Formats: sequence, C-alpha cells, structure tokens
Amino acid sequence: MRKVVAAAIGCASIAAAAVVSAEPPAGAASCSGCHPSSSRVSSPVAHLAGRDRAEIVKAMQDFRSGARAGTVMDRIAKGFTDAEIQAIAAWYAEQK
Ligand code: HEC
Repeated sequence: MRKVVAAAIGCASIAAAAVVSAEPPAGAASCSGCHPSSSRVSSPVAHLAGRDRAEIVKAMQDFRSGARAGTVMDRIAKGFTDAEIQAIAAWYAEQK
C-alpha cells in the first residue's frame, strides 16, 4: 500500500516537472516554511532559491542516505522520492 501511494505521488511529480511553471511542485510548500522561495527574504536557514539544481538534489540524496548528517534534513529527506526531489530542486533553481 505504501508503495502504491509513493508511486502515485512520484507520477504526479513527474507530470508536474514536465510543465515548467511558476507553481511549486508537490512537496515544495513543505520546504518553503524554512527555506524561503525568494533569495530576497532573509533567513537563518540556507537559501535554496536560485541554487544549482544538481546541488540541491545531491544534498537531499545525501541527507536521505545518511551520507550527510543533519539536524532536521535527514528526517525530512526520507519522506521524498527521487522524482519529487528532482521536481522540487528544479523549481527552486528557477526562483530568483
Ligand atoms: C523545519 C525546517 C526545514 C524544512 C521544512 C526543510 N528544511 Fe532543508 N534545511 C533545514 C536546516 C536546518 C538545514 C541545515 C542542515 C540541518 O541542520 O539539517 C537544511 C539544509 C538543507 C539543504 C542543504 C543546504 C546547504 O546549503 O547545504 C538542502 C538542499 C535542503 N535543506 C533542502 C530542503 C528541501 C528540498 C526541503 C523540502 C522537501 C527542505 N529542505 C525542508 C531546515 C528545513
């Protein structure tokens, strides 16, 4: 059952990623509470807006696998599939 749900979410993200849009992909809203979606907003948490897409993907995958330690990101990253991470990273990379 969990796999089915994860697969469904994954498909939705791929569909969202195919359409280049200003709308944040599924899951991105859960990031922007801590990582603002604009680099003009000051934040104690690292800015992701405008960051290199591959860098964001790598960081998320490392947090998820445990290769990189985190205080919260290791736990958060475990809730995201590769497709979701790709879509969120692509969206953040496009933000100014
Ligand atoms: C509860 C606040 C919070 C949420 C929600 C959150 N993050 Fe983070 N993020 C952090 C903190 C704090 C760090 C610093 C590493 C740590 O302590 O875990 C971080 C670090 C990162 C980094 C590495 C930044 C760098 O400069 O190395 C990336 C990439 C990242 N988060 C992506 C995301 C994505 C994508 C999401 C949504 C799926 C997300 N974060 C949701 C708080 C959060």
